[in-house]
Amino acid sequence: MAKEPSKSLKKIKPIPPMPSSGEGKVPTKGDAQVAQESGSRNAPIINIGIERQDRAAIAEGLSRVLADTYTLYLTTHNFHWNVTGPHFNSLHAMFMDQYTELWGATDVIAERIRALGHYAPGSYAEFSKIATVPDVPQTPPKAMEMVRILVKGHETVSRISREFIPVAEEASDAPTADMLTARCTVHDQTAWMLRSLLED
Ligand SMILES: [Fe+2]
Repeated sequence: MAKEPSKSLKKIKPIPPMPSSGEGKVPTKGDAQVAQESGSRNAPIINIGIERQDRAAIAEGLSRVLADTYTLYLTTHNFHWNVTGPHFNSLHAMFMDQYTELWGATDVIAERIRALGHYAPGSYAEFSKIATVPDVPQTPPKAMEMVRILVKGHETVSRISREFIPVAEEASDAPTADMLTARCTVHDQTAWMLRSLLED
C-alpha cells in the first residue's frame, strides 16, 4: 500500500514573505536577497516540473544555507590552524575532518542552486549579507571556546537548513529536500560530537 505523505510538515509555520518581493514566496534575511536567475535567450527555458517562482524561493533558501555552510567551513579551517593547548593533536585532526566535509558540501549546495536556474553566491560580500553564522573571531579563542563556537555554528546551519525543507517539499523538489535533510543529519551529528567534548 502506498505510504501517505507526511501531514506533519504542513503544520510547519510558513517562512514570512519578503515584503518587497511582490510574490510573497521568497524567503530572505532582512532585505538581503542574492539568488539571481540565470540563463540567456539561446538556452531553452527550464522545464523540470518546478515553477519558476518556487525555483526562486528554493534558490534563495539554498543561498542562505550556502553562506552559512561556507562561513562555518572557514571558521573550522581557521580553528584547525590556530588551535592551541593540551588537546592540540586531537582537535587539529578533528577540525580537519570537519572542514573537509563542509567544503565538499558547499559545492553540492551551490550546484543545486545552478540546477534550479539561479547563480550561486560566492563572495565574502554576498555571504556576509545573508549568513546567520557569525564571522570568524578576529583573535583565536581558547580550544574549548572554539568547540563551543562550532557547536553553535552547526546547530545554526541545521536550523536554517531545516527551515527550508518544507519550501522544497511543497514545490515537489525532492532532490533539494533530500539534500537539506542529509545536511541536517551531518550538522546534528557533528554538534553532538563537539558538545560531548564539553561535558565532564
Ligand atoms: Fe592542515
